[in-house]
Amino acid sequence: MSEAWRLLLLPGDGIGPEVSEATEAVLEVAAAWLERRSGRGVAVRRGWIGGAAIDRWGVPLPEETLEAARASDAVLLAAVGGPRWEHLPGHLRPEAGLLALRRELGVYANLRPATVWPGLEGRSPLRPEVVAGTDCLVVRELTGGLYYGQPRGRGVGSGGEIRAVDTMEYSADEIRRVAHVAFRAARRRRRLVTSVDKANVLENSRLWREVVSNVARDYPDVRLEHQLVDSAAMLLVSQPARFDVLLTENLFGDILSDLAGGVVGSLGLLPSASLGDGGPGLYEPVHGSAPDIAGQDRANPLGMILSLAMLFESSFGAAWLAAELREAVAAVLAEGWRTADIAAPGARLAGTREMGRRVARELERRARAGEAGPDARAGRRSGAESEPVDSAARPHMAAGA
Ligand code: IPM
Ligand code: MG
Repeated sequence: MSEAWRLLLLPGDGIGPEVSEATEAVLEVAAAWLERRSGRGVAVRRGWIGGAAIDRWGVPLPEETLEAARASDAVLLAAVGGPRWEHLPGHLRPEAGLLALRRELGVYANLRPATVWPGLEGRSPLRPEVVAGTDCLVVRELTGGLYYGQPRGRGVGSGGEIRAVDTMEYSADEIRRVAHVAFRAARRRRRLVTSVDKANVLENSRLWREVVSNVARDYPDVRLEHQLVDSAAMLLVSQPARFDVLLTENLFGDILSDLAGGVVGSLGLLPSASLGDGGPGLYEPVHGSAPDIAGQDRANPLGMILSLAMLFESSFGAAWLAAELREAVAAVLAEGWRTADIAAPGARLAGTREMGRRVARELERRARAGEAGPDARAGRRSGAESEPVDSAARPHMAAGA
């Protein structure tokens, strides 16, 4: 029997521990199924990050957590941040721990699929005919740009007033490598890359556009278009279904992925995978720590559960299990179960824990059915081997619905 996959779980702050607990219920069933089928199970370790780490260790990313992350095959993180730590200087805030972890793991490509789930069309604030068919993938550059550029900080200007500086910097290499991820992803989808920038104003964006256009020559089968970020934001709400892969820099990607979450009905549904060249992947729901609802069993755990699906696919080579997990989520939604953020009046309301339990139970049911009759499953199994970055970038609902 081969050595177990090593997974580091970082619950973090706010609703983080709750959605983690709900996800763990699903993880338990999934890991057992993986072990029965492949002979390789999952060894879970827990660690501290963000405010929880500050409270315990005084820093947002303790050395011990970083070491554990480096020694793992994948890291699953829930959320960091909250008002309790807002007074701290920037480098000691919970968010600094997350940014340091992304940087240290070298996970420069952040894949954020946004899909309208069947039955949830009505939960979008947009008219159903506008949102119908929306299925996009934001490929966000994650370890460069304004989030990391130097110099940054505060100083005093010549007139004695306080000034603040952030620096936006990209090298051609940083742009090139994430562009390749986007084009490879588009090949597995609808073969359109929309590169988003602000090339009418920013020098960074002019370099971005130039490098992306050069990379596009390696992918003659993929169509490339350029959009300015302001116009991309407008199109994302007026014609969301026109997009396939949106490729963009760090800050624009942060903003547009929340926007995409709003378009498909709830940020609580969005998963993400952050990948580099080898090394562990980092998987996080796109939502934040939502301190306003923390501790109330109201948060939607599906963003994290779907992040777990991306993890099984991209880091543990189990695309078949990712597909089963997405189908389990789809089945629970099809039964009408909803957390508060996606509930229409009169819906079957489930708390965080119950939603996790329902997905876990559905997955268990699928496992038993699958093991009872291997015939229908054989085809799916053979599709399991694929290159990590590409497979993560598959349409979110590839095997669903
Ligand atoms: C996200 C979050 C983070 C980011 C915060 C928590 C630092 O908003 O993952 O989108 O800005 O990257
Ligand atoms: Mg964000």
